[in-house]
Amino acid sequence: MTNGRLSRRRVGVLGSGEVGRRLAAGFAGRGHHVLIGSRDPGKPELREWLSGEGAGVEAGTFAEAAEHGELLVLAVLGNAAEEAIAEAGAKGFSGKVVIDAMNPLDFSGGFPPKLSITGEDSLGERVQRALPDAKVVKAFNTIGNPYFVDPSFSESQPTMLIAGDDEDAKRTVGDALADFGWPDPVDIGGIEGSRELEAICIAWVKIGGARGSWDHGFKLLVG
Ligand SMILES: NC(=O)c1ccc[n+]([C@@H]2O[C@H](COP(=O)([O-])OP(=O)(O)OC[C@H]3O[C@@H](n4cnc5c(N)ncnc54)[C@H](OP(=O)(O)O)[C@@H]3O)[C@@H](O)[C@H]2O)c1
Repeated sequence: MTNGRLSRRRVGVLGSGEVGRRLAAGFAGRGHHVLIGSRDPGKPELREWLSGEGAGVEAGTFAEAAEHGELLVLAVLGNAAEEAIAEAGAKGFSGKVVIDAMNPLDFSGGFPPKLSITGEDSLGERVQRALPDAKVVKAFNTIGNPYFVDPSFSESQPTMLIAGDDEDAKRTVGDALADFGWPDPVDIGGIEGSRELEAICIAWVKIGGARGSWDHGFKLLVG
């Protein structure tokens, strides 16, 4: 049983990269029943992870992860998000809280990447439009994945920024964040706030490239 704020539940994580694995292990470590989704759930690197750090997590297709979860996480390549949702089927997301941890990065011009979605739109909004019956909450996208769970910074802890249209869904994600060691997320408003949160990722990547390390984050200070 989890002793955290988020009551024990089934969590489906769509995405088997570093981000998906980090969050899947985080939820499993807090007593939730986690299924991680991939286009190829049998691939050797995923199997290896499941038998080590991912012990206790199950693997399946994107559709199986969406069906399994009462709480869902989208953690695929940003530019493949709509494809992954289509593959999973929007029905599996219906009525559920969906954490969108993704960034729409365009590396076609090399490093640093640009946003592949700009202006009066964002990936968070596209995900919400693709899943009109789900409650999408942008979170985790402005922090490096090693710090998602039990973050430890030598200086003070950065701010976790979130955005989404549904207040209850943001409370649920806030509970999950608190359990992971992020007790005070700052809510910047509706899902259109993904425009700013995704742009912050570009600043984060540029700073990482300039510093040659990826252990930084941004903190909101009030006077
Ligand atoms: N790396 C970080 O620290 C960090 C931090 C915050 C946010 N993010 C964001 O989190 C997201 C995931 O990042 P990541 O580094 O874990 O992995 P990634 O390499 O960006 O994505 C890997 C996942 O995307 C899926 N995928 C790739 N191409 C696909 C396609 N054409 N159709 C469907 N699915 C496809 C892969 O599926 P398979 O399982 O089938 O291979 C895999 O599950 C990205 O949007 C990234 O910008 C990253």
